[in-house]
Amino acid sequence: MNSAESARPITLVIFGASGDLTERKLIPALFSLYRRQRLPQPLQIVGSARRSYTHEEFRAHLRQGVQEYATERFDAAAWDAFSANIWYHAGDSSRAEDMIALDAFLTGLEKGAANRLYYLAVAPTLYVPIVENLGRADMAREDDGWRRLIVEKPFGHDLASAHALNDMLHQVFAEHQVYRIDHYLGKETAQNILFFRFANTIFEPVWNRNYVDHVQITVAETVDVGHRAGYYDQAGVLRDMFQNHLLQLLALIAMEPPYSFDADALRNEKVKVLNSIRPIGPHDAVLAQYRGYREAQGVAPASRTPTFAALKLYVDNWRWQGVPFYLRSGKALAHKTSEVVVEFKCPPQVMFERATDECFPPNVLSLCIQPDEGIHLQFEAKVPGSQRDTRSVNMEFHYRSSFGGAPLPDAYERLLLDALLGDASLFTRSDEIEAAWRLIDPLLRRWEAEEDPHIPLYEPGTMGPVESDEFIARDGRLWRQECNHCAEGASE
Ligand code: BG6
Repeated sequence: MNSAESARPITLVIFGASGDLTERKLIPALFSLYRRQRLPQPLQIVGSARRSYTHEEFRAHLRQGVQEYATERFDAAAWDAFSANIWYHAGDSSRAEDMIALDAFLTGLEKGAANRLYYLAVAPTLYVPIVENLGRADMAREDDGWRRLIVEKPFGHDLASAHALNDMLHQVFAEHQVYRIDHYLGKETAQNILFFRFANTIFEPVWNRNYVDHVQITVAETVDVGHRAGYYDQAGVLRDMFQNHLLQLLALIAMEPPYSFDADALRNEKVKVLNSIRPIGPHDAVLAQYRGYREAQGVAPASRTPTFAALKLYVDNWRWQGVPFYLRSGKALAHKTSEVVVEFKCPPQVMFERATDECFPPNVLSLCIQPDEGIHLQFEAKVPGSQRDTRSVNMEFHYRSSFGGAPLPDAYERLLLDALLGDASLFTRSDEIEAAWRLIDPLLRRWEAEEDPHIPLYEPGTMGPVESDEFIARDGRLWRQECNHCAEGASE
């Protein structure tokens, strides 16, 4: 991109602008960037959806959303200045003539060459018609400035549909124009995994099969299916959480250092890791459902949709050969916490006399993604005054105490800003998304082909079914409960 092109005004067009995502996430994130003077200028925001709003009504609706969902105190004067550049255009963009009318509206607003970012904040069934219409109306052509497209998740329902969607997008947009969102990559703490590993020298030498016993990745949620049954009962936890967020976290933990922090260098390494994961065997997964799920509004009465899963994965490469990666995620669990735990091996020789010949408690490194963002290292210390007793102690880093207590920016702030600036590092590339589906797809197919209506149940408010504890116990290991210090309400 040349400098004349990057200096052009930008139009951000949000399709599905009357929906939740715009009000709860996109506009609060853009407003926060505006207040911090990080938003490229001049920028106009155009919402489009079928509902009819005047510009003023749309602004008033968004204002309410910002007041409700933004973390900072509302600043009315800043809002007035920011919202003067928000517009609304009613239409059904899955109809070619409405898309042409939208283009005419945008052209009138832009009054000259402008860059455009299109955001698909719509139901996935609308991705194809909207993109086709963008193509037909010549709205993806980059003659008058760059054109970019943000696609929300879910990206496909399985490998075949993700592949077909990629093919379809590529008929209209080149890969460099497409930004596929995985909001976990926009979280500060997920990005910090790379900084932790590659901006320091002391961790990388032990980050391999010689020192690491195993890795656990947990994304636990207390919320249940809520009002999302229409989507969730078709998706389940494997599509909703594993294909994207958990595998992305695994990739950040397991990848080789990229040669630069550039989008393709980074994504090449993630794709290599995803491609090195061994196919998931039938005994390497536990799927379960919380008791009461089938009674939730909109859920099929005999639904076998899993709301919890625990998987064991192996990364078949030199660095990780033989090191299990245990992943678990579920709804209606005891804590809301997203964390990565790296458990190290026993010292090769224990020279301090021990009551038993057991190993010391292992060193454990916990990367707390949320809600109590930080990093904890557990190691052994001699109990003062004793001959040989040790106790596990913690070295701790908390974002809130080290960085002044300000709330961390929302993932959407970072992702929107990067897309506006043309940095695709934190967005998933087409081959990356397909590599993730390639792993999850056979598991889904096996599960969905089973005729046995039985599905292990777990009680809401626990950490999943007993089968999940038995699953890891078969390898002589335990889910790390002490990392609950990452969880909401845990004390420092
Ligand atoms: C979304 C899933 O992608 O991630 C939701 O669709 C889930 O089901 C959410 O609740 C979890 O995100 P976070 O940021 O709250 O961990």
